[in-house]
Amino acid sequence: MSEDRPIEVLFTAEEIAVRVGELAREIAAELRRDPMIVAVLKGSFVFTADLMRAMHHAGMRPQIDFMTLSSYGGGTESSGHVQINQDITDPVKGLDVILVDDILESGRTLAHAKSVLLERGAGTVKLCVLLDKEGKRKIDVEADFVGFVCPDLFVVGYGLDFAHYYRELPFIGSIEGR
Ligand code: IMP
Ligand code: MG
Repeated sequence: MSEDRPIEVLFTAEEIAVRVGELAREIAAELRRDPMIVAVLKGSFVFTADLMRAMHHAGMRPQIDFMTLSSYGGGTESSGHVQINQDITDPVKGLDVILVDDILESGRTLAHAKSVLLERGAGTVKLCVLLDKEGKRKIDVEADFVGFVCPDLFVVGYGLDFAHYYRELPFIGSIEGR
């Protein structure tokens, strides 16, 4: 078993479930057509799975596809170079895309993915993130749908990792001593 670090809970499983339901209703109220969800892996997979089922309860019939992106550069902050490691396989031309990610931080990852999807002819691309680290933006990009504003701490759980661990936690917490 891996070493356990103390984790301070920031958002409980119950709080997340309530907010995900609200987000799905916000999305349903704004979209005129059923969307194509493009989930950015790996971090968003738990959030997206819950969001998609909440969208069903909000009366929507989303399609879904997945994209794995990575950004390179030294240090812990992402660099300007975003690379697609695994691409979507379904066409997006003419569709209303909801690009879903775990956290919006510098904005580079989602800004890049959004421009790629628009270049491919997506009708519209809206951004939906579970967490928004508002003060950390390096690029002028904002999410259309935000679950929670997140303090500037390194957070894990509910799909988010620290060095490949903690994605299984049902809540979101911050790791001490990062
Ligand atoms: P950015 O907006 O391009 O800086 O990229 C944000 C990405 O960095 C997210 O999709 C996460 O994968 C990762 N990330 C940023 N902050 C955290 C955190 O606190 N915990 C875990 N991953 C994070
Ligand atoms: Mg990510």
